[in-house]
Amino acid sequence: MLKRSQFPEDFIFGTATSAYQIEGHAQGGAGPTHWDSFAATPGNVVRAEDGARACDHYHRYEADLDLVAAAGFDAYRFSTSWARVLPEGRGTPNGEGLDFYDRLVDAMLERGIKPAATLYHWELPQALADQGGWRNSDMPKWFGEFADVIARRLGDRLWSVAPINEPWCVAWLSHFMGHHAPGLRDIRAAARAMHHVLVSHGTAISVMRDHGMTNLGAVCNFEYALPANTTPEAAAATARYDAIYNQFFLSGLFRETYPELVLEGLEPHLPKGWQDDFATIQAPLDWLGLNYYTCKRIGANDGPWPACDELDGPLPKTQMGWEICPDGLSHFLTATARDYTGDLPLYVTENGMANPDVLRDGAVEDPERIDYLTQHMDRAATAIAEGVPLKGYFVWSLLDNYEWALGYEKRFGMVHVDFETLTRTPKQSWHWMRNLLVGAQT
Ligand code: FCB
Repeated sequence: MLKRSQFPEDFIFGTATSAYQIEGHAQGGAGPTHWDSFAATPGNVVRAEDGARACDHYHRYEADLDLVAAAGFDAYRFSTSWARVLPEGRGTPNGEGLDFYDRLVDAMLERGIKPAATLYHWELPQALADQGGWRNSDMPKWFGEFADVIARRLGDRLWSVAPINEPWCVAWLSHFMGHHAPGLRDIRAAARAMHHVLVSHGTAISVMRDHGMTNLGAVCNFEYALPANTTPEAAAATARYDAIYNQFFLSGLFRETYPELVLEGLEPHLPKGWQDDFATIQAPLDWLGLNYYTCKRIGANDGPWPACDELDGPLPKTQMGWEICPDGLSHFLTATARDYTGDLPLYVTENGMANPDVLRDGAVEDPERIDYLTQHMDRAATAIAEGVPLKGYFVWSLLDNYEWALGYEKRFGMVHVDFETLTRTPKQSWHWMRNLLVGAQT
């Protein structure tokens, strides 16, 4: 059985959500985002669902934060919607939007919860998407302006800030694979987005430092790349996949360069003078966050670079079809500290699973999630024992929510949400977390 005592006293336990996935974007004067138009385009999102209502956290945030506090979490990782704060992406802020985040942060502090903010968790204002979004080399400037607005209003009360959630998803998944907004499948767009996302990150860090803010970090996502077979071709494809997914952003942030295996394909498409941007990209960080869910089995194909296929694997899978592979978490915690970050504090900023949870007689049994969390938290504790400077762990997610292109069907929450009535019901896993963090309840 997992025990709180397996972790250091000052270890931070948190849970995570994001703005578009829970708030209800139709509320409070938020501007349109590229997720609204992406979702309204047939074929992109299951049942063309969007975040207009989501969990209505915009009105129910106090009750939701009560659930964070009652479970004994130390921190809550949330995000600020750029389009809620700046409906046109730039210019005059939406007072109502800023007031909402002000109330939200104060409500955390009142409950003794540390506000762990992410500035950008994917809902790009449509006005900026219309100008090319992440492909546009003005993005760092625009994003810096947004960071400035947030810093002025909330900077005195945020416990931690990461500018951008998961650069790989923002750039590669959305501009090369086309699975997320803006749904492009274009190598040049992807190359530019990958670079601009890092320059934007560094710009926002500098803006926040100039405001005297501390505890600033970056949050990247990782998938454990394993060769699907023993051929040298599969090994080479796995190395390429790993370089694009797991090494590119860390390399930019911590080594002032991009991996050769990625430059092989992307260099001709990077913006001119990209080599000169590392001074901005490398703005010093106080921590690195790792989001980890699964592994991928990689094979080679005869197509153009990167010539990788994702193949089926043998491990038990979650509702997402993702293999449950705690080995990958161990791998990334150890390898990241060893190869990139040294003594820099690390956090697991997302980990969790989707499960087809059913509400029965007012309760939700989700032993699968408890098992998943136990296995991964156990690996986190082992990594600490082996010397990895891991300082905290955040469960994705507090609530069942809008799982992007997969709509509301995939349930990641420790708290069940009925999307008709919006009733919240803590699942067995929430009760289990509470027992872990604050002891047995009567
Ligand atoms: C991560 C995202 C988060 C959620 C989980 C399942 O990539 O950061 O918004 O969708 O996956």
